[in-house]
Amino acid sequence: MIPKSMKAAVLTAFGAPEVVKIASRPAPKISGNQVLVRNIATSLNSGDVRIRSKNVPKGFKFLLSLVFGFKKPRKEVLGTVFAGEIVKTGADVTSFSVGDLVFGSTEMGMATHAEYVAIKDSKAIAPIPSGISPSDIASLVFGGSTAVYFLDKLKIEKGERILINAAAGSVGIALVQIAAVLGAEVTAVASAKNHAFLRANGSTHTVDYTTTDLTKLAPKFDVIADCLGTMPYKRHRHLLTKTGRFALISGTMGETLAAPFRNLFGSHAIIGGTSLATKKGLLELVKLIEDGTLRPVVDKEYPFKKITEAHGYVDRGHKRGNVVITF
Ligand SMILES: NC(=O)c1ccc[n+]([C@@H]2O[C@H](COP(=O)([O-])OP(=O)(O)OC[C@H]3O[C@@H](n4cnc5c(N)ncnc54)[C@H](OP(=O)(O)O)[C@@H]3O)[C@@H](O)[C@H]2O)c1
Repeated sequence: MIPKSMKAAVLTAFGAPEVVKIASRPAPKISGNQVLVRNIATSLNSGDVRIRSKNVPKGFKFLLSLVFGFKKPRKEVLGTVFAGEIVKTGADVTSFSVGDLVFGSTEMGMATHAEYVAIKDSKAIAPIPSGISPSDIASLVFGGSTAVYFLDKLKIEKGERILINAAAGSVGIALVQIAAVLGAEVTAVASAKNHAFLRANGSTHTVDYTTTDLTKLAPKFDVIADCLGTMPYKRHRHLLTKTGRFALISGTMGETLAAPFRNLFGSHAIIGGTSLATKKGLLELVKLIEDGTLRPVVDKEYPFKKITEAHGYVDRGHKRGNVVITF
């Protein structure tokens, strides 16, 4: 039986973690081409806390406010990732049935920090592969999809040298795992407490950003992936080989706007953009999980009722991999 109401983590304002409050809301109603998923696990990602706090790279606050609201949040419930069981299907849905275990992402639709999630069957939703838990798959969607999006464009070849900044985070660790399997020589930037963990995940070299001047690293890299915005292209381009590629995963508006001009007039390729999960992308992710390339890294798992506490933890900016919320 599907209840009329559900518990949701409601964004009551923009600000500190305490603005997120669990409240009762109507359970979503589905249309003909949608399915209703009872959430078993979701993840709390850097994207969610960026929207909640409006703590975004320089130049992006106005754009974020345009989309998500200036004073009052337009999206009442955050969260993009879901993993759970289908409890209802619309009349036109043929690819899923009640009882299927599925995972995916609502992307800009958000609203997955709630007990029930509605999504069109043609969107980013796929079956959970057997042998993987809803928590583990929920942990892999955000960082994994982002890593796959950038690696598709970076076209890394065996033996190439890649430097990954903020390598111990959600996006960084997925990049480390996949790049290592592709045969790249991975240099991972993180604080010393994460170095053994990063080597265990495939890094050949580790660099401690708290004690090392990153502008002085040598020898040169074929690829730099900056997952945090603390290694701007302008100050680190000399670390790249003549035809090196720079993944602008997190950067200021200025860096983002300069990228097309730098691509036109410079010898380096700057690869930016926003990764949005798709059904095709999720199926690619499943392949990488099944062949052992991508492995879940769950730093902490919180019960849904402690989601405000989880926001506080992610806010600190030092999570290792992912934070999962279970229902
Ligand atoms: N372009 C896109 O489509 C896209 C998609 C997803 C995310 N993003 C962006 O990618 C960025 C990373 O996201 P995420 O989810 O991976 O973040 P995250 O998981 O919150 O990152 C946490 C990691 O950052 C590391 N860190 C903190 N300060 C650091 C510093 N000064 N230097 C190096 N590492 C540092 C921490 O390692 P230590 O504890 O060792 O310091 C920690 O492991 C975010 O800015 C997000 O907005 C972009």
